[in-house]
Amino acid sequence: MFKSLGTFGMVLLMVTALVMVGLGFIVGPDHPLPWIMLIIVIAIPFIHNKTVSNRYLVWKDEYSVGIEEMDNDHKKLLHLINQLQTAVHYYTGKEFEEKALDELVDYTKTHFKNEEKLMADNGYADLEAHKIQHKQFIDKVNHFVEQYKTNSDVTMIDTLKFLKEWLINHINGTDKEYGKVLNEKGIH
Ligand code: FEO
Repeated sequence: MFKSLGTFGMVLLMVTALVMVGLGFIVGPDHPLPWIMLIIVIAIPFIHNKTVSNRYLVWKDEYSVGIEEMDNDHKKLLHLINQLQTAVHYYTGKEFEEKALDELVDYTKTHFKNEEKLMADNGYADLEAHKIQHKQFIDKVNHFVEQYKTNSDVTMIDTLKFLKEWLINHINGTDKEYGKVLNEKGIH
């Protein structure tokens, strides 16, 4: 089942096109309209799948901070965000959606703790500034969780947009900075 307007619109368009194909063939197969509509019916799922797949995050080697344990954490966070994306796009049920959100929040906290310990253990100079970024992120996510209790669909869409942008920007920016410094100390 689906619940996003985009998917609903795609199904509606397909049904309309199929009806027009049927009507077109009643008028006569010599007419170009049924053939054009048939091509549209075949093309719609491909276009839709491409649009949906663009909403999912894919790990790229360029996201690596050069420390395997942290890369694995980041990969798992991407996976959990994608899980939440699935919950938003399809009718997976409230329980799956809440579980996906809880898992993401919990693992994010675990990752931040691991990362901050790694930085502290290795005397990273910008640890406090990095911790502030983590805290601001958690505060923002907590705010979304509170909103989710009153308007789940809208909040999930906003939450996902924020999570994707923040995580990729944070990994590519601040995280890579500590990665470089720790790599120079022989941490990989
Ligand atoms: Fe990987 Fe600073 O979070």
